[in-house]
Order: sequence, then structure tokens, then C-alpha cells
Amino acid sequence: MLLDAQDVKVHFPIKRGVVFDRTVGYVYAVDGMSLQINRGETYGLVGESGCGKSTFGRALLRLEEPTAGAVTFDGTDLSSLKGETLRKQRRNMQMVFQDPLSSLDPRQTVEALLLEGMRAHGLTKDKAAAHARLRELLAAVGLPEAALKKYPHEFSGGQRQRIGIARALSVDPQLIVADEPVSALDVSVQAQVINLLEDVQEQFGLTYLVIAHDLAVVRHISDRVGVMYLGALVEEADADDLYAIPLHPYTRALMSAVPIPDPQVEDRRERIILAGDLPSPAAPPSGCRFHTRCPWRQDTRCDTDRPELREVRIEGVPASHRVACHFAEQIASGELQPHSVAPTAVDPDADQPRPDVIEDGAPGADPYPDARPPGV
Ligand SMILES: Nc1ncnc2c1ncn2[C@@H]1O[C@H](COP(=O)(O)OP(=O)(O)OP(=O)(O)O)[C@@H](O)[C@H]1O
Ligand code: SF4
Ligand SMILES: [Mg+2]
Repeated sequence: MLLDAQDVKVHFPIKRGVVFDRTVGYVYAVDGMSLQINRGETYGLVGESGCGKSTFGRALLRLEEPTAGAVTFDGTDLSSLKGETLRKQRRNMQMVFQDPLSSLDPRQTVEALLLEGMRAHGLTKDKAAAHARLRELLAAVGLPEAALKKYPHEFSGGQRQRIGIARALSVDPQLIVADEPVSALDVSVQAQVINLLEDVQEQFGLTYLVIAHDLAVVRHISDRVGVMYLGALVEEADADDLYAIPLHPYTRALMSAVPIPDPQVEDRRERIILAGDLPSPAAPPSGCRFHTRCPWRQDTRCDTDRPELREVRIEGVPASHRVACHFAEQIASGELQPHSVAPTAVDPDADQPRPDVIEDGAPGADPYPDARPPGV
């Protein structure tokens, strides 16, 4: 196992007040994420906008300080690292962003952009070797050597993403977190960039966490897929298993939104339109966080007990396929049938404090008193 995240939480304080900055609540952006990534595999993380995917990816790299939880990378507990050791560790974990134009400094040539990270990690001392490395990187991402003297704006979106990938590769990382690597690109270019990610993975022996908001993007490159809803995983499985038998009602709804090119399958396809919007992560629903939109919600447990990601006893479903739903077995067997869900309007003031978080420092005000990093 290369990466092990255990119960990672990232809660952003909501501050109010003119004179004194009072913490009036928290955005529970990531709220109990546990996942493991094996060396050489591609883990696809999927969920709708705002569910906390990017925050989780950033927390893995300690670009965001986790409020709680542990991340172990290649046997090293990252939370114990500080200063220079943390900086050195970052070489092993790189990020590819959604919008290459905003993540690449427009005033720097491609050569300068690529050398920057290498220099920071002492990889440019031997000039000839550094230039050989630049040529290798460009060849790997399919750009001509002439690209070195150009600026990011001189390239198309797809080419810019190639530069973003070359930049991540430049320091010879082990893990790449690719956050929506193709969602800003034309559909015609998306497949090329996905294929490129696969090629360089093989060439450089990389491990990937690929983040996307729709299942179609991660389908072909992922070995395993995790589905995230309001800060935590609701289902995880080998990619083929997840697409063959989606078990969680939310996954089924996401799946029903992915068009299938086969017209016969398309006709039989289950369509679940989710009622309402994603609830605010500042006021997540009690119990199962999906209960406000779930067509299978039951009066017992769903509103009160938060389901854990667990193995299920369903024929043909392997132990690696886990789901966070109290009623996964009964839903899969058809014993429980979906019902209609009245859309609950998302309260525009939902980032108001939860009733249990009234005033900073008041007794019982913070539901996670030990969970914040020092100084927050
Ligand atoms: N620095 C921050 N301070 C306060 N809230 C934040 C901060 N960063 C993110 N959030 C909130 O945390 C939640 C999760 O955000 P995040 O960007 O991780 O979601 P996402 O799943 O990546 O969404 P998208 O698909 O839109 O990129 C959102 O409600 C967002 O508004
Ligand atoms: S636990 Fe209940 S509300 Fe949550 S997904 Fe399962 S059936 Fe739906
Ligand atoms: Mg994001």
C-alpha cells in the first residue's frame, strides 16, 4: 500500500463579526474519509460539485491542514512532518489541476516552469542531465522541444494540460493527484489526455488518485472507484464491480445520469432524478447524509444512524465492494422499492451555525473539540 488515509476530516471555520472574528460554525468539507491506494493503481474519486473531493486531495498532500485523521505515505506518517522534511516529502506527491492556465505562471516559459520544481528539489545541479530530463519529459507528454521557449498562453487547452502533467512529472513523484484533469477540456481532447495519463503511468511507474465529478471520466482508467457524498465515501469497489452492480442509492443515481452508447441498454437504463440540491456541508443532514434525497429512505435508522462503509452479503458481490447504506441488501434484492422524494429546498442561510455550535468557547459549542489543528 502506498497511501493510507484514516478518518481524515477538514472543517473550515465560518467566521463572523466586525471587531472580533467569531467562529460561528464549520464547513464540514471532508468529514471522515478513509481510503487506501496501492502502489501502481489508479483510484478514481467521484462525487458532485462541493462534496469535498478537492479538499480531500489537498489534505493528502498537506496543502490543506487536516482537522483530524492520519495520512501515511509509503510508511511515513505525514502529520509528523514539518518544514524541510515536509517540503522534501512533497516531491513524492504531485498535483495536476483542472485549469492548467490558472495553475501555470503566465510569465514563465515552459522551460522555466519545468525547471522550477526540479530546482527546488536539487535536480538541476547537473545542467546536461537536467536538459536531458526536460527533453524526456516533453517526449513523454507528446510536445515538441520547441515548446520549451514558449509561454502557456501560446498553447491550446489540451497542450497546456500536457505541460501541467510534465510539470508534475518533473520531480519524479510516486503519486499524482489529478483533480478534474480533463473537465476544462473539449470532449474531443479529453480522451487524449486520459490516454496520456495512462501512458506516463506505465512509463514512470506512477500511482494515481483521479478526481472527477462524473463517473464516465474515471471509468476506463480506474482500477478502483470511490463515490463521495458530503465529505465521506458512500461506496467503494473495483471499477468493473461498481459499474456492474452499483449498490448505494446515490451511486445508482449518478450512474443513471451517464448515457450508455448501446441503444438497447440505454432503453432499459434505470433513471433516478435526485430531488433537490446537495445540502450545505455547513449543515449536513443527520444520520445518513443522503437521507434527504434518497428514494429508498426508511423511517428507521436513516435519519438517525450514520451508516459505515461496510462489506455486504449479496451474492456475486466481493468483499472489496463496500457500501455505506443500512439497507443495501434489501435494496439490491428488490425487497425495498424506491418511493418518491419531495425536494427539500436548500436553505440559503444553511451556512448558519448548527444548533449545537452557538458561540466560540461556549461549553459544548464545538462538536469536535479535540479535532482542530493548533492555532485554529
Ligand atoms: N478554504 C475554504 N474555506 C471555506 N470553505 C471551503 C474552503 N475550500 C472549500 N470550501 C468548501 O468546502 C466544500 C467542499 O469543497 P471542494 O472544493 O473540496 O469540493 P469539490 O468536491 O472539489 O467540488 P468541485 O467539483 O466543485 O470542485 C464546499 O462547500 C466549499 O465551498
Ligand atoms: S441508509 Fe437509508 S437514506 Fe441512506 S442510502 Fe441507505 S436507504 Fe438511503
Ligand atoms: Mg474540486
